[in-house]
Amino acid sequence: MAVVTLHRFIIEEERRHPEATGDFTSILYDVAFAATLISRAVNKAGLIDILGATGEENVHGERVQKLDEYANKVIFDSLDHGGHLCLMASEESEQPIPIPEQFPKGDYVLLYDPLDGSSNIDANVSIGTIFSVHRRRDQQTGDGALSDLLQPGVDQVAAGYVLYGSSTMLVYTTGAGVHGFTLDNSIGAFLLSHPRIEIPDPGKRIYSVNEAYSERWSDGQKALVDRLKKEGKFSLRYIGSLVADFHRTLLYGGLFMYPADAESPKGKLRLQYEVSPLSMVCEQAGGAATDGRKPILDVVPSELHERVPCYMGNKEYVELANECISG
Ligand code: AHG
Ligand code: MN
Ligand code: MN
Repeated sequence: MAVVTLHRFIIEEERRHPEATGDFTSILYDVAFAATLISRAVNKAGLIDILGATGEENVHGERVQKLDEYANKVIFDSLDHGGHLCLMASEESEQPIPIPEQFPKGDYVLLYDPLDGSSNIDANVSIGTIFSVHRRRDQQTGDGALSDLLQPGVDQVAAGYVLYGSSTMLVYTTGAGVHGFTLDNSIGAFLLSHPRIEIPDPGKRIYSVNEAYSERWSDGQKALVDRLKKEGKFSLRYIGSLVADFHRTLLYGGLFMYPADAESPKGKLRLQYEVSPLSMVCEQAGGAATDGRKPILDVVPSELHERVPCYMGNKEYVELANECISG
């Protein structure tokens, strides 16, 4: 089989889908470039003084790890000048991030979690980057507006993630299936390694949730996990790094959950740049993703950093979750 680089794949996809504009191709390509820089830093983290925390806190009151900050800057610097975006939003920035005035503005917005699972960095556990692309709402020109960032997941034009693990993988969808690429460090290129990823059906009987919080769960959540353990004979896998837990669920099947609980009524994960992009990938791979009642992609955000409970994985497992949660 010919070696298919990400660049070649995106170009060939563009030819197959004439509605996709060149703009789009450049955004995906720039995200991939940022990922190669972050991958290099992640893989060297132990050798250069980039481990550990900066001592500062981010908008959510969480300690910012140096790699978080580096990843945040690399993504912004890789995408601020291409002329395809009119606004960005990052987990690490309370406010939307404007495109510098000296650069042309385009028709898309990018939302991203620059480094997910960053509390695991020092333990060398796999971490990730998550990204979501929307077309701006009205076809004006110039700077984008907050409303361009507050669109439901169903309107995403692209979504994906990068997993910095034993190898670095980029997994994305533009609505025509899910495709996985593995970084060949010797040439600095992402090569097609997982064409058309589909969640296995039936999926492995794996559930993934932080059971430490079970005392705070609703009766429905408790009943769900009891059924999975007793009737379903499921086993538990929880890495505590969302992209790693999600990627395993996508490739092996299962049910990933970050439920609401008495202390976090909307769970912990953020809708616009964590759960919504992963939900598009999950659905495009033949899986399902809900908040325990309705598809994540139908949730209309009201705030940029809002959180949402989530159940993602095999359709049959997510349907069981909906049954237990919504009663
Ligand atoms: P981030 O590092 O971007 O703040 O995300 C961390 C998230 C996610 O990676 C993971 O699923 C979750 O935190 C784990 O939370 P708990 O430790 O509460 O299980
Ligand atoms: Mn995150
Ligand atoms: Mn993060």
